[in-house]
Amino acid sequence: MRKPIIAGNWKMNKTPSEAKELVTALIPLVRDAACDVVVCTPAVDFAAVKEVIDGTNIKLGAENMHWKESGAYTGELSAAMLKECGVEYVILGHSERRQYFGETDATVNLRTLAAVAAGLTPIICVGEKKEEREAGYTDALVTYQTLTALTGLTAEQVAKVVIAYEPVWAIGTGLTATDEQANETIGVIRSAIRSVYGDAADEVRIQYGGSMNPKNVKGLMAQPEIDGGLIGGASLKAEDFSKVVLYDR
Ligand code: PGA
Repeated sequence: MRKPIIAGNWKMNKTPSEAKELVTALIPLVRDAACDVVVCTPAVDFAAVKEVIDGTNIKLGAENMHWKESGAYTGELSAAMLKECGVEYVILGHSERRQYFGETDATVNLRTLAAVAAGLTPIICVGEKKEEREAGYTDALVTYQTLTALTGLTAEQVAKVVIAYEPVWAIGTGLTATDEQANETIGVIRSAIRSVYGDAADEVRIQYGGSMNPKNVKGLMAQPEIDGGLIGGASLKAEDFSKVVLYDR
């Protein structure tokens, strides 16, 4: 049995004082969650968030990291820096990083290897654009993105990563994949993992992401392949995010 995991992706939102306010409101609302609860925040918010979530069931995540240990990489953050701030999860290969910041499957792989080596749990994002789905490339694309990202990990390591299937056309658009579409593509991703890593595929948690909200979360989470969600817009308000986290109530 895979334990569901619901993670917020705050993107470029919330100053440290706003972050503190949001998590302070969130803590009592999600205290009894049956799933793992993570907030992935801008790095400038880590200290403010960590201070208030310590001792609660909310874990801290980052939105990206570099693969080198240190060096002349202006503006970047290393795994060790994240770890020391109390970060446990890190989003890698988000479609916005791919679209606006030149992220490639090769660099997602480097980041994944570095995150796992440092003891961070990567949340690796894969997903097709609208035209790719229409052209019938979805399965091939998510298979390629997933297996490239994982290259070089052992089956034991693969079992512990989190994958987020996020159809690009559903992110921030209000359009959601249907429950069945999301389930089917996540099933494709799991089969791809099985073809290389065997039974580790049964342990990997695969989230859905893309306009997931309090209204549609129940239907999505009822699907057998879907193990959680990566939540953008709906993670910015404590009330909304808590309703997603408590989808089973
Ligand atoms: P959204 O974003 O929930 O606002 O669509 C999801 C994401 O980009 O991770």
